[in-house]
Amino acid sequence: MSLGESSDRIRQMIEERFEKVALDPASERKFPIGPESARRLGYDPDELDALPPPATESFAGVGNPLALGELRPGQVVLDIGCGAGLDCLLAARRVGPSGRVIGADMTGVMVDKARANAQAAGIGNAEFHLADARELPVGDATVDLVISNGVFNLCRDKTRVLAEIVRVLRPGGRLQMADILLREDVTPEQVAQKGEWSD
Ligand SMILES: C[S@@+](CC[C@H](N)C(=O)[O-])C[C@H]1O[C@@H](n2cnc3c(N)ncnc32)[C@H](O)[C@@H]1O
Repeated sequence: MSLGESSDRIRQMIEERFEKVALDPASERKFPIGPESARRLGYDPDELDALPPPATESFAGVGNPLALGELRPGQVVLDIGCGAGLDCLLAARRVGPSGRVIGADMTGVMVDKARANAQAAGIGNAEFHLADARELPVGDATVDLVISNGVFNLCRDKTRVLAEIVRVLRPGGRLQMADILLREDVTPEQVAQKGEWSD
């Protein structure tokens, strides 16, 4: 299998995995997800309870990126790999009606779910796009804060994703990211195996 084919296959497996997290979160057995996981990661329980349940049931983050810095009314936030939109909804409330939140995710059903969640929560200043982290759906120097939660580890082309983040951030803008990392070395063979990425 060529590098391009293995890359496409890994991408497809990641997408299938998160389709399941969007459509059938109760079936997830391997990683902690949902509102209990969010509570354990330090999210404010009152803020979580104030959201419609579908907005928290597919939460698959590994930390709390919004806790890493303050947001101000009027700011523009971009969430890379927004999933079902929990961080976007919380950010949208913080930046208020003069601010804007853009969620981007490569899994279509996650994007649909995030849109429905924003509508159910009565949030009008968040928009969601089907997009890959390698091609962010915003202009140069237009974003005050980029957030990402549990996504960077899934991106094969990390240099390109970081270049995109640098492109979209305004001067003085910030990146607040939560992710997981391995402490041991990974062989090229492991990198090429779909299971290492998607299971
Ligand atoms: C672990 S989930 C986290 C979702 C969300 N950030 C949260 O905290 O619930 C990873 C998400 O990243 C998305 N994703 C993975 N690779 C991506 C990429 N290259 N570009 C855009 N989204 C990606 C998946 O579709 C999935 O929704």
